[in-house]
Amino acid sequence: MAKHTFPVDRADALEDQTRYVHCSREELLDALAVGREATVLDLGSGTGFYTDDVAPSAGQVVGVDVQQAMHERYRRKGVPPNVSLLTAPVHSLPLAEGAVDAAFSTMTYHEFATPAAAAELARVCRSGARVVSVDWTSEGAGGSGPPTDERYNLAHAVETFEAAGFRTVRAATRRETFVHVCCKI
Ligand SMILES: C[S@@+](CC[C@H](N)C(=O)[O-])C[C@H]1O[C@@H](n2cnc3c(N)ncnc32)[C@H](O)[C@@H]1O
Repeated sequence: MAKHTFPVDRADALEDQTRYVHCSREELLDALAVGREATVLDLGSGTGFYTDDVAPSAGQVVGVDVQQAMHERYRRKGVPPNVSLLTAPVHSLPLAEGAVDAAFSTMTYHEFATPAAAAELARVCRSGARVVSVDWTSEGAGGSGPPTDERYNLAHAVETFEAAGFRTVRAATRRETFVHVCCKI
């Protein structure tokens, strides 16, 4: 399966409000279910489109992105005071064991979906921490988002996270996207 990293020169597309058709702020916050003391990771934070939505409901949000240039793009827009930015791949996070209360990724699972990444999330998440993945499904029509042969599906997310020590608590496939919510055991 092809893998790609979303190009920085297309970052403006990530700020398009019509993206809420596929994942709303309301849906994301409900799935995360965090309190105002929580430390939350945004995995593949990009321009911070969804980071900004989560920040007011969390204690600290760490925007993780492998591309420094994406963080620079986010900084130009303006980063909320409780958001810090970390340049790192999901499979190698410079964070302490159990330091994270929750994590989420939006439209990014297909860019980091490996057993190593799930194992790293299991390491940094405390017991009971939720990990929410909303991404394009390979079962969709592919009219928008990445080509279907670059996507994964819900079953892949369930298998990858459960093999790493998470328990699935919510799982749904929609028309173009899937949502997977799991808890660190
Ligand atoms: C499609 S964009 C989505 C950005 C953001 N989640 C959103 O919904 O607006 C994917 C982002 O994930 C980042 N990314 C890709 N692979 C990654 C990895 N292995 N670790 C961390 N970030 C990654 C890319 O640099 C890019 O900014």
